[in-house]
Amino acid sequence: RAVHLAAASGAVFALAACRGPQSTFDPAGTEAAEVLHLFWWMLGGAALIWLFVMGLSVYATKAHPKAHSERAGTRLIVWGGVAFPVVVLTGLLAFGLQMMPGFRAPADGPRIAVSAERFWWRVHYDAPDTPGVAKALSGEGVPSANELWLPVGRRSEILLSSPDVIHSFWVPNIAGKVDAIPGRVTRLVLEPTRTGTFHGICAEFCGDAHAQMRFVVRVVSEAEFAAHVAAERAPAAVLDHPGRAAFERNGCGACHQVRGTPSDGLVGPDLTHLGSRETLGAGILPVSVDAIQRFVALTEHEKPGVQMPSFATLPEAETRAIAEWLGALR
Ligand code: CUA
Repeated sequence: RAVHLAAASGAVFALAACRGPQSTFDPAGTEAAEVLHLFWWMLGGAALIWLFVMGLSVYATKAHPKAHSERAGTRLIVWGGVAFPVVVLTGLLAFGLQMMPGFRAPADGPRIAVSAERFWWRVHYDAPDTPGVAKALSGEGVPSANELWLPVGRRSEILLSSPDVIHSFWVPNIAGKVDAIPGRVTRLVLEPTRTGTFHGICAEFCGDAHAQMRFVVRVVSEAEFAAHVAAERAPAAVLDHPGRAAFERNGCGACHQVRGTPSDGLVGPDLTHLGSRETLGAGILPVSVDAIQRFVALTEHEKPGVQMPSFATLPEAETRAIAEWLGALR
């Protein structure tokens, strides 16, 4: 009885882990739903082959003296070990292939360029088509970072690229993963089917902070999406603040852009509306003045492997002012 209880509670925990904002078992997109559908059929097919082959093995070794003749043995191998798996696997292959055209269907939603960089995500709404992607990433379109907003029910086209190494863009609840490859533009269509907040991750090992290369996906109504892009397009909301002077004095603008101010660095994430984002440091800390200050002062401690240097030598008043200003940029 105790064994049954342990097994049952184990199963409950295992199934509980299958739901949530970063799970392939809780689809919120048409492609993820099909991939899950395919997974169950593959699992069923694999189970069928396993049971059949195991059954035949038991039959051949133990059960039946008739199975011990050479002809019977050959027949078992041909039918059980070759023909049966070929039929089942061919059926599963055909089932998988007929899903492909659906994944390739054209997009009817916004085009968004996403550049995967060590170890964060550069996002550009209103991106031009492929030839202009590189240009888009250096200024055109509406820049943002580490947070991707999508309109529900539309097929948004994501143009993926990378300036350094291979990364992989994956939002498990919405679609399969696609690599971001230096020197190429890869495409992925995301069609979310319900609103909510989901988590994305980098799914290709890319260096020290690979595991901390995350992002947030906000699926909203079309009206909310348009309002968000308009808000992202606007310059910084707070210009007169002691933190802005500290930001500029300490050279933060060499790497970070705050539109509406002279800070126009394109090395790191755009911070124009940092205060309005959910997370900081590519999905690793919730945005708050305390967290921003900690990230500026103890960067390497908060995110080992990060490319940004720590500013631990700055006076606390200075990092506090910077954090208060960035937190106010909503
Ligand atoms: Cu980027 Cu792993």
